[in-house]
Amino acid sequence: MHILHVVGARPNFMKVAPVYRALTDCDGVRQTLLHTGQHYDFNMSDVFFQQLGLPAPDINLQVGSGSHAQQTAQIISRFEPVVTDRKPDLVLVYGDVNSPVAAALVCVKLQVPVGHVEAGLRSFDRAMPEEINRLVTDRISNLLFTPSSDGNDNLAREGVAAEKVHFVGNVMIDTLVRMLPRTAERVPANTPSRYALVTLHRPSNVDDIAWLEQMLRELSEISAELPVLFPVHPRTRQRLHGASLNGARRSLQLMDPLPYLDFLALQTRATVVITDSGGIQEETTYLGIPCLTVRETTERPITAEMGTNTLVGRGIPRIRMEVQKILHGESKQGKVPPLWDGHAAERIATVLAGARAAAWEAGRVSNASSGCSDRL
Ligand code: UD1
Repeated sequence: MHILHVVGARPNFMKVAPVYRALTDCDGVRQTLLHTGQHYDFNMSDVFFQQLGLPAPDINLQVGSGSHAQQTAQIISRFEPVVTDRKPDLVLVYGDVNSPVAAALVCVKLQVPVGHVEAGLRSFDRAMPEEINRLVTDRISNLLFTPSSDGNDNLAREGVAAEKVHFVGNVMIDTLVRMLPRTAERVPANTPSRYALVTLHRPSNVDDIAWLEQMLRELSEISAELPVLFPVHPRTRQRLHGASLNGARRSLQLMDPLPYLDFLALQTRATVVITDSGGIQEETTYLGIPCLTVRETTERPITAEMGTNTLVGRGIPRIRMEVQKILHGESKQGKVPPLWDGHAAERIATVLAGARAAAWEAGRVSNASSGCSDRL
């Protein structure tokens, strides 16, 4: 069985790593790793492959940056001949960035089965480009692997057949569980004992310069009491050039985007994380670190319902109030959601072994055994 994985942007790399590893152990499975090139800087891409122990991609489409239409179109036109040429039995796509939706569109037209890892998540906010990517990718995928039961509920409500949907847990947490023991050595010697760790890159936050300036002033205020460490995403760095910072920057510790282990090391010790990322809401929930999410909605509601995440929206007074509560020891307590246990990728491998056996019975593949189910 030939499985082709499609990744393109930073959060994809942590998700493919455990699935690739789980399938490496399966007899009769051949894997191809394809990078669309959506993210291309060393510190947004290559360093993740190194730290996660992923092989270099077999294929890189080198699409680079562009408008959504340009980027999606480039992936579609460059990926189609790859699928025609390599003839995978299954294509696995990850998450909600532009790369998975583009790849899934190619596959559905060529009638190549697609599995979507991290399916079913919904923010119900169609102004978010990722929400469109989630809706379309789920609609045209053959296998849907959900990280939490709300994903199953959303898909059921949208009329997706139950037999396509598999609640396997969170592959991002698989990577976290595996890498956590290696973080101790990654904390820089001069790291303060208490600090806020900040990431912001959503268009809704950083493309609105007036709001970005307001947030930076607020972070600057917070830094009078609590050091603020802020690894800056390339999109945000571009916008910062246009923002009037009025001294706010001087008190913030701005730095380049960090490699996976280094960022995880800072997360595990943070007093509070302030973010608009999706994956960081999940990681802080697993780690039990308070997280303030600067968004009105989340596609990961379980992190707020069960975990340590609080949606603070666009309210500066709310951010200030929540930080004060945390500084006074009133942090939100949370629990780790079901199946966020480090074994989600193994469950995916088991499902694929079953799908393979069914395909063999139907005469679509020549060898039924993948060896995965024995191990699991
Ligand atoms: C993308 C994803 C977002 C994800 C984020 C993680 C979509 C729609 N968005 O957003 O869901 O949370 O990645 O990082 O797919 N750039 C560089 N170097 C790079 C990559 C990007 O300089 O290696 C710059 C480019 O100028 C680009 C801008 O950052 O125009 C934005 O990159 P892009 O991939 O379009 O979207 P992200 O904002 O990174």
